[in-house]
Amino acid sequence: MIHKNIIYAYSVLLLLVLSCSTPKSSVNVSNTDPTSKRVDSILSLMTLEEKVGQLNQYNGFWEITGPVPKEGQAAKKYDDLKKGLVGSMLNVKGVSDVKALQKIAVEQTRLGIPLLFGFDVVHGYKTISPIPLAEAASWDLKAIQKSAEIAAEEAAAVGINWTFAPMVDISRDARWGRVMEGAGEDPYLGALIAKARVQGFQGNLSNKNIIACAKHFAGYGFAESGRDYNTVVVSDDVLHNVILPPFKASVDAGVKTFMNSFNDLNGIPATGSSFLQRDILKKSWNFKGFVVSDWGSINEMIAHGYAQDSKQAAEIAINAGSDMDMESYAYIDHLKSLVVSGVVDVSVIDDAVRRVLRVKFELGLFENPYKYCNEAIEKETVGKTEFHEGVLDMAKKSIVLLKNDKQLLPLKKSGQKIALIGALAADKTSPLGSWRIGADDNTAISVVEGMNKYPNNEVTYSKGADVAIGRTQFMWETKINTTDTSGFAEAIATAKKADVVVMVLGEHGLQSGEGRSRAELGLPGVQQELLEAVYKVNPNIVLILTNGRPLAIPWAAEHIPAILETWHLGTQSGHAIAQVLYGDYNPSGKLPMTFPRNVGQLPLYYNYKNTGRPSANEPESVFWSHYIDEKNTPLFAFGHGLSYSKFEYSELKVSKASFSKGETIQVQVELKNNSTVEGKEVVQLYIRDVVGSFTRPVKELKGFEMVELKPFESKVITFTIDQEMLAFYTANKTWEAEPGTFKVFVGGSSDQLLETEIVLK
Ligand code: BGC
Repeated sequence: MIHKNIIYAYSVLLLLVLSCSTPKSSVNVSNTDPTSKRVDSILSLMTLEEKVGQLNQYNGFWEITGPVPKEGQAAKKYDDLKKGLVGSMLNVKGVSDVKALQKIAVEQTRLGIPLLFGFDVVHGYKTISPIPLAEAASWDLKAIQKSAEIAAEEAAAVGINWTFAPMVDISRDARWGRVMEGAGEDPYLGALIAKARVQGFQGNLSNKNIIACAKHFAGYGFAESGRDYNTVVVSDDVLHNVILPPFKASVDAGVKTFMNSFNDLNGIPATGSSFLQRDILKKSWNFKGFVVSDWGSINEMIAHGYAQDSKQAAEIAINAGSDMDMESYAYIDHLKSLVVSGVVDVSVIDDAVRRVLRVKFELGLFENPYKYCNEAIEKETVGKTEFHEGVLDMAKKSIVLLKNDKQLLPLKKSGQKIALIGALAADKTSPLGSWRIGADDNTAISVVEGMNKYPNNEVTYSKGADVAIGRTQFMWETKINTTDTSGFAEAIATAKKADVVVMVLGEHGLQSGEGRSRAELGLPGVQQELLEAVYKVNPNIVLILTNGRPLAIPWAAEHIPAILETWHLGTQSGHAIAQVLYGDYNPSGKLPMTFPRNVGQLPLYYNYKNTGRPSANEPESVFWSHYIDEKNTPLFAFGHGLSYSKFEYSELKVSKASFSKGETIQVQVELKNNSTVEGKEVVQLYIRDVVGSFTRPVKELKGFEMVELKPFESKVITFTIDQEMLAFYTANKTWEAEPGTFKVFVGGSSDQLLETEIVLK
């Protein structure tokens, strides 16, 4: 019997285990790096049951710090923990809870293997940053990385060592509520953001960093009809060229874990897909970390009609490379007997356990299982001023100015009567967004509070109407659907007396996120009616949209002179919005996702295929790819976003007209700030491969640069095009650039571009 405290000091353990029993035949002796040796040493000591335990993840059970749970699931979890049959817990937070559980794992179990503590630190822990879709609108990779660093440091301080983020699912359908968690619709931007987030969370795995998890592998964002958990059918082309790049970028950035997804992908549930988890992830990409299932997704293969019972689901999942079971109880209940009866080979279990142990080693938990359990650090870290400054900076960078006719914005700082209307203007919870389980309600700065910082205008607040939410949501108390218009009269009277009306409308923080798919994408409840009623008495309206996904708001886009997209901006929301409203911050955000005119257009995205009938040959023709009752174009395009500066693009030039493999071409454009306001612009480069072995999109983002310009300053921006930029997953199943003509576009939005052409010989 090994002494149970040996894990504390790894060096002792290593000496002990190396001099211990001969390694079992399953130990892979070819693994020669130091971590592999340590992993194999431990593996050789483990019983089959203990191995299975490392692959078992349980949700928290709070009773643990109080009296020992006596019955039911909590009692089983507690017993399993003491027997060393749990590898990880999720949703346990706070140093004292984490420490209590870790203590059981390292001091009361036979081998004392420490636990991983997972939590959805998706956009902050307690100090909440903008939702990921909003952050993506900044196109500012350094800021996004910094935001992940802040989230990691705060979460690490409360004992968490693993975040279930980043979500890197590409999605083209705003009906899907989880678009708020991702980086939008573009694989290139999505890949860069995935890398920034992974690096931000993981850093050098110090005690201020936590391990990251790229999720949900794969295809989850392509749920049919935008309905969460729905079936996904995608082509090889879309899978490789659109869905997979951010996952691959996460692996290249060193992400330690992956989470698979709930959906069925082309007929096989992702959790049971060895094509995804073994062939692509572990073989082709050489991923060394482990895959955790999504919550209960192993057992969900029964409902999918892919496994007849939990036992078969366990067999399918483990063989497919899904290493850890989150809350299905399938592995803990069945893996042992599946191995004993010869259905699952023990080498499959060993591979999964090795992966889990390797991550624990890399994180330093064997050296110090209490690495994240320091009460003093917890006290001085959570909610520190520096975090608030960081999330405020990120929030300002995430705002997108969609429209600014009549230069209504920025607002004058004094002498103005302002009517501030909308329940969301005073809401201190909604700005926290959907994944904010570590944060307390009512902790965000509201727009009312933000505007109060500018005291020289007369601001009168009137609610107008509540925001409908549909139904009471799981876990959080929210407003029930409302048709109440009794507040309209007061709002209208306030608007009548005002010079400018600021209306804060959109979605409640819980109207997007998991399980919050929507069939309509207008302003929920009676907000559209409220907007139109106020407009009748005072059209000088600045509309502040607050939402977790693109909305379809054609009436507002046509009638309202100024529109700011502010998403759900987190704890410092109101200050960020007020600073942009008053021009103390010049907005520079660009949409990471297309805004449709109409839900019927979805999925709608800028990098679509041309089709065989892209436009009408004759004005009256009906036989081309269009709607008879709606335009094809979006309301606001991917990449769109205005500024208080006025940017002008000219002089698009290429250094040569053609190039051969191994050479590069320079593309130059001149950008001028034709205004008196200093500002930032995201200069975007798009390319179209005119003929391909797979049909190619009409344009694809291939580069961008954030440029700061003083009043009336001009700069020449240069992009370098190489062959790699032109490469894609071809019909021959290879990544390569196919020779031919490429169109090159540069500009400030995917629908406002200068164009030229090059040839790859
Ligand atoms: C979600 C995951 C999340 C997990 C744990 C699931 O329902 O799909 O994204 O990480 O729960 O909270």
